[in-house]
Amino acid sequence: MSHHDPTPIAYVDHAVDFGGAEHSLIELISRLDRTSFTPIILHTEGAKWLQSDRIADVERIAAFSPHPLLEQKRDEVSTGLLRLIGNTWTALRLSLKLRGALRRSSAQLVHTNSLKTHFVGGLAARLGRLPLIWHVRDLLAENEGYHLLRRAARLLRPRVIAISEAVAEQFAGLPAEVTVIPNGIPLDKFCPGLPSPQLCRELGLTADDRVLLMVSRLTPWKGHMTLLEAVARLADRWPRLKLVVVGEVAFWEADYEQQLKQRAADLGLTEQVIWTGFRSDVPELLRLCDIFVLPSVGEPFGRVIIEAMATGRPVVATASGGVPEIVLDGQTGLLVPPEDAQSLASAIQTLLADSQRAQQMGAEGLTRAHQLFSADRVARQVQELYQRILSKGR
Ligand code: UDP
Ligand code: GLC
Repeated sequence: MSHHDPTPIAYVDHAVDFGGAEHSLIELISRLDRTSFTPIILHTEGAKWLQSDRIADVERIAAFSPHPLLEQKRDEVSTGLLRLIGNTWTALRLSLKLRGALRRSSAQLVHTNSLKTHFVGGLAARLGRLPLIWHVRDLLAENEGYHLLRRAARLLRPRVIAISEAVAEQFAGLPAEVTVIPNGIPLDKFCPGLPSPQLCRELGLTADDRVLLMVSRLTPWKGHMTLLEAVARLADRWPRLKLVVVGEVAFWEADYEQQLKQRAADLGLTEQVIWTGFRSDVPELLRLCDIFVLPSVGEPFGRVIIEAMATGRPVVATASGGVPEIVLDGQTGLLVPPEDAQSLASAIQTLLADSQRAQQMGAEGLTRAHQLFSADRVARQVQELYQRILSKGR
C-alpha cells in the first residue's frame, strides 16, 4: 500500500435494532476524512440501522448471523453476557468468523461499537494482530458484566473511547488507555423555534396545551413508568398537560409497549399521553415541547438530551450516569434522583410554573450544546486517536 492510500478501518457493531450507539456511529462514519480513512462496516445480517442513507456508500460485510447470544432481551445484560462468554465455543466461532471478515476487509484498525463486539471483535482483532479501539457506550452494574468487561480489558488491552466520564470510571485502575469523547450530534439539524402546525394537528395538540416530551426506546431503565406516575401527580393542577412519548421497543420484549400503555390507562392518563412510536423527524418533534424529560436510571450519555438542548428546550433528567456531565442542574435544566416520581413531578412543576426560567434554561442549553456537543468535534477527536495509534504501529 502506498503511503497515501487511505487506511481501512473496520467498524464492528452487532445490533439489529437502531439505537443511539448506531446513530452515533453513523454520524462518525459519515464525517470521516476519506482521503485518510476508508470505513468498512462489519454487522449482523438484516441490521435495521444499515438502511440509513448517510452510509449508503460505505462497504459492508455481514459478519454475524442473527444469533440468540447476540440479542439483547429481558435477561440482558448480565445473563446475556454470561451466556456469551460462558458459551466459549460460540464466542470463539463468532470471533473466528469475524477474523476472516477482517482479513477480507484488509482493515488496519478495529473499532468496536457495541458491548458484545468489544469481546468478540476484540478477540478477532487480537487474533489478527490489529490495533483495537473499544467505543464504550454502556454503564454496567456490578452484577451486569462489569467485572467481565474489566477482565476482558485486561486481556485484550484495547484503547478505550468512553462517551462520558461516568463510562470511563468503569476502567479505573486498569492499565487501559481511556479517552473521554462525549457524543455529538449534527447541530445544523436541530433548531429552536415554534412547532409545525401540521405536526400539532397530527398529534392532536392545541395552542394552550403544555407539552412534555420524552424521546427514547421503550426499555425499563429509561424510566417511562416513573414519568407516567409523575404526570399523574400533575394532572389535576395542569389539566392541559400533555406527554408525548416518542420511540418504540428496542433491545427488549415487544410486549413492554402494552405494559406502558396499560399503566397509563390505570393512572387515568389515556387523554394526556400521546404515543408516537418510532419517528425519523425527532428534530421537528422536539420543537413541540415546553420541557424535555429523560428520567432514566444510569444513562451512559443520552443523545436525546443534547438534541433537546440544541432545540433550546430545558431538560428535566436524572442525576445518574453521564447525565450530570451534560445537564447543568439549575442552569440548563433540573436534575432529580432516579426512580423518584415525586421529585420528578416537582421539577416539572417548577418549570411549568415559571416559563421564563424554563426558556432561559433552554437558551443556556442551546449555547452549551453548540459549544460542546457537535458531531464534527467527535469525528475530529476520533481521527486524531486513529492517527496516534497508527503512527505508533508504523
Ligand atoms: N431516535 C429516533 N427516533 C425515535 C427514537 C429515538 O430517531 O423514535 C433517536 C434519537 O433522536 C437519538 C437516538 O435515537 O439520536 C437515541 O439515542 P440515546 O443515546 O438517547 O439512547 P439509546 O437508545 O442509545 O440508549
Ligand atoms: C448507548 C447509551 C446512550 C448513549 C448511546 C450513544 O446506547 O444507552 O446513553 O447516548 O449509547 O453513545
